[in-house]
Amino acid sequence: STPELRFDNRVVIVSGAGGGLGKAYSLFFASRGAKVVVNDLGSGLKGEGSSASAADLVVDEIKKAGGEAIADYNNVLEGEKIVEKAMKAYGRIDIIINNAGILRDKSFKSMTDKDWDDVMNVHLHGAYKITKAAWPIMRKQKYGRVIMTSSAAGIYGNFGQANYAAAKQALIGFSNSLAYEGFKYNILSNAIAPLAASRMTATVMPKEILEALKPEFIAPLVAFLTHEKCKQTGGLFEIGAGKITAHRWQGTEGVVFKADESFTPAAVKARFDEIDNFDNNGRVYYPASMKDNDWLGKLEEAKGLSTNAKGEELRFD
Ligand code: NAI
Repeated sequence: STPELRFDNRVVIVSGAGGGLGKAYSLFFASRGAKVVVNDLGSGLKGEGSSASAADLVVDEIKKAGGEAIADYNNVLEGEKIVEKAMKAYGRIDIIINNAGILRDKSFKSMTDKDWDDVMNVHLHGAYKITKAAWPIMRKQKYGRVIMTSSAAGIYGNFGQANYAAAKQALIGFSNSLAYEGFKYNILSNAIAPLAASRMTATVMPKEILEALKPEFIAPLVAFLTHEKCKQTGGLFEIGAGKITAHRWQGTEGVVFKADESFTPAAVKARFDEIDNFDNNGRVYYPASMKDNDWLGKLEEAKGLSTNAKGEELRFD
């Protein structure tokens, strides 16, 4: 059988860990030897109110099972305080699971500035604040593992979730950029788009489906991606009900116009179906970095081979 992946002596910060996914991660990491900072300000689903008991209950459960954890009640917007607390208690930070979140679903027409700001703040700014405070520590250690919690709504957009989707898509770009900047220091960052039963999904999905979507079924991927043996960085994974898929961009073969006065909006219109053709006998490509769309090269060779950022051949297949 495959050996168990352990986290002995690793220090993990899990934000929003008082319930749902964060709780499942915290219990799992602690059961595998990690010291866990269980952060949760104990708010309601929409970010209203606060209570220490959410984080405390998780810490109690970890301790009863013989694990090590401390509770932290700070708002993720005060990420530096969370990091300070972790350093005081354990002296290092190996893993950050940016997980805290709230919902303010509303049609864009009815969305207030506060609905927008509060959602962006908790998801995006909160992840920024914790990660920013821990970054110099991880660089100095030459070790770090970061998870950003995105969402299918962030990848694809969703009716009534303009604020949430904007924050969740932003977390992917954030993660991908940290993957570049952290690589030299063995700091890896990946984004996940989970689907699990929690108070967040309790009202939007039928009971039978929710039963198949245990939050515990997200932990194996999160733990693998944050283990010292993992080399994956800059990835995006959808996961739910035991199924994990990796996601990347796809570009069409495209159209190269002559860059002269014939390049008009009407010329674009005339060939728009070709530009937008994702079903061109499979002639699509899969850019993995900014450099993969080789604009100048396309003047020479609009088709066939190109190279990506690592100098590897990219084939239209
Ligand atoms: P949840 O509502 O059970 O957990 C979120 C936790 O974050 C709560 O315990 C809440 O008190 C805490 N929190 C909220 N604002 C905070 C703040 N400012 N500072 C510290 N803690 C704060 O929801 P769930 O489902 O466990 O969500 C976890 C993450 O996964 C969220 O980022 C969510 O957007 C994301 N997600 C969940 C999906 C699902 O199917 N459950 C789908 C896609 C994404």
